[in-house]
Amino acid sequence: MASIFMLILSFLCSQGLYSSSVAATSTIRVGDQLNSTTNLVSENGNFTLGFFTVGRPNSQNSSYFGVWYTNDDRQRKVWVANPNSPITSSFGVLAIDSNGTLEITSEGSSIMILHDQNGTVNATATLEDSGNFVLMDAADRRTLWQSFDHPTNTLLAGMKLGYNLTSGQNWTLTSWLNDYVPAAGAFNLSLESIGDSAQLVMHRRGEPYWTSGPWNNGNFEFTVTLNDTSNPYQYNLHYVSNGDGKYFTFDATDAKISMMELTSKGEILDGANSRFVSPADFCYGYQADNGCVKTQLPGCRSQKDSFQQLSANFPVTTSSYETIQSQV
Ligand SMILES: *[C@@H]1O[C@H](CO)[C@@H](O)[C@H](O)[C@H]1NC(C)=O
Ligand SMILES: *[C@@H]1O[C@H](CO)[C@@H](O)[C@H](O)[C@H]1NC(C)=O
Ligand SMILES: *[C@@H]1O[C@H](CO)[C@@H](O)[C@H](O)[C@H]1NC(C)=O
Ligand SMILES: *[C@@H]1O[C@H](CO)[C@@H](O)[C@H](O)[C@H]1NC(C)=O
Ligand SMILES: *[C@@H]1O[C@H](CO)[C@@H](O)[C@H](O)[C@H]1NC(C)=O
Ligand SMILES: *[C@@H]1O[C@H](CO)[C@@H](O)[C@H](O)[C@H]1NC(C)=O
Ligand SMILES: *[C@@H]1O[C@H](CO)[C@@H](O)[C@H](O)[C@H]1NC(C)=O
Ligand SMILES: *[C@@H]1O[C@H](CO)[C@@H](O)[C@H](O)[C@H]1NC(C)=O
Ligand SMILES: *[C@@H]1O[C@H](CO)[C@@H](O)[C@H](O)[C@H]1NC(C)=O
Ligand SMILES: *[C@@H]1O[C@H](CO)[C@@H](O)[C@H](O)[C@H]1NC(C)=O
Repeated sequence: MASIFMLILSFLCSQGLYSSSVAATSTIRVGDQLNSTTNLVSENGNFTLGFFTVGRPNSQNSSYFGVWYTNDDRQRKVWVANPNSPITSSFGVLAIDSNGTLEITSEGSSIMILHDQNGTVNATATLEDSGNFVLMDAADRRTLWQSFDHPTNTLLAGMKLGYNLTSGQNWTLTSWLNDYVPAAGAFNLSLESIGDSAQLVMHRRGEPYWTSGPWNNGNFEFTVTLNDTSNPYQYNLHYVSNGDGKYFTFDATDAKISMMELTSKGEILDGANSRFVSPADFCYGYQADNGCVKTQLPGCRSQKDSFQQLSANFPVTTSSYETIQSQV
């Protein structure tokens, strides 16, 4: 027992030494490139940006480009640039060209253009300590593009969930297909107007599934208060409404890994995996409590039916695995 403990300790120490001895940078410039052997690390080390593969049974070696907390032992990807366009060949490259275009390519072909400047700009891209990846005009530090404007399944402190009618932006979360596939899944979370206030609305396959109830006095009706002292993470929720639009945001004091993640099962979890949405596990379609939205049920289903999670062993192939995982 003791020797295993020592082994783990020495492993951790060597990892620590290793990471501190590698010179990391938070910025790329025109002419630099990032590939699967190089990452960006934000100035104080909070976040890492790079290419990653997500492990899953019989993996097809798809890789993605995204951001994670450097010290998250689960390495949850809080942002993914190309969730619906995985790189299936060996190498992905991220670069800024001399026009200021930020693009992911693989073996010379374009995978995804993150920002097309449409004009010549000397641009740099920096991973900030907030987790925001920002493309800036090097001359006047004007923001040309930022990852916070393109959320995937996770809201970080400082990100917006809501909309701006002037710019036409609509910041929404989209769940992954399953734990291993970042492609758009069944659930979306957005902020929608209700009377003078606004509420979070979760859609399941495009149909309203759950609502948070209106924002009132520092919280939404059907969400737990995340700033209570029993929660290891202290979240302060903010709601902003002005002529342009409405958005919800939060900041987290004393939080190492703060986030709100919309999971592929339609839960909203914080960094410690506590439920932000409480207490309903699952909306069955016939209830209208705790924010669940009543829906038209299939004729074969009775209101007395409930669901339980079962597991079984079966030969896993990639397609059967994805089919099962995506039938949420
Ligand atoms: C990855 O990037 C590094 C640094 O820019 C470079 O030295 C290396 O050749 C690149 N690897 C590939 C396979 O392109
Ligand atoms: C994934 O990559 C490894 C090593 O490059 C290769 O041996 C394996 O066959 C690949 N798997 C698939 C499903 O392509
Ligand atoms: C920059 O834009 C100009 C005009 O659109 C184009 O001709 C040129 O090829 C672009 N340069 C790069 C590196 O893409
Ligand atoms: C790019 O710039 C040209 C000329 O400035 C303009 O006509 C065109 O509409 C622009 N395209 C986009 C997509 O903004
Ligand atoms: C970065 O991490 C440090 C140490 O955990 C923390 O004090 C700081 O608030 C973090 N910065 C941001 C912007 O999250
Ligand atoms: C672009 O900006 C960088 C500073 O980020 C500067 O070092 C470089 O000389 C600039 N390049 C051009 C072509 O202006
Ligand atoms: C909405 O977008 C407009 C145009 O980009 C901007 O001027 C305004 O400040 C934005 N409003 C908010 C609340 O961010
Ligand atoms: C934003 O997107 C969500 C989900 O896609 C949609 O329900 C909502 O109406 C949109 N809001 C605005 C203001 O466009
Ligand atoms: C969720 O939102 C994304 C991005 O706005 C959209 O592509 C997708 O179709 C939406 N999914 C559903 C089920 O509404
Ligand atoms: C924090 O929690 C207290 C109750 O414990 C509540 O009164 C207050 O409004 C909460 N603040 C925010 C910003 O959520």
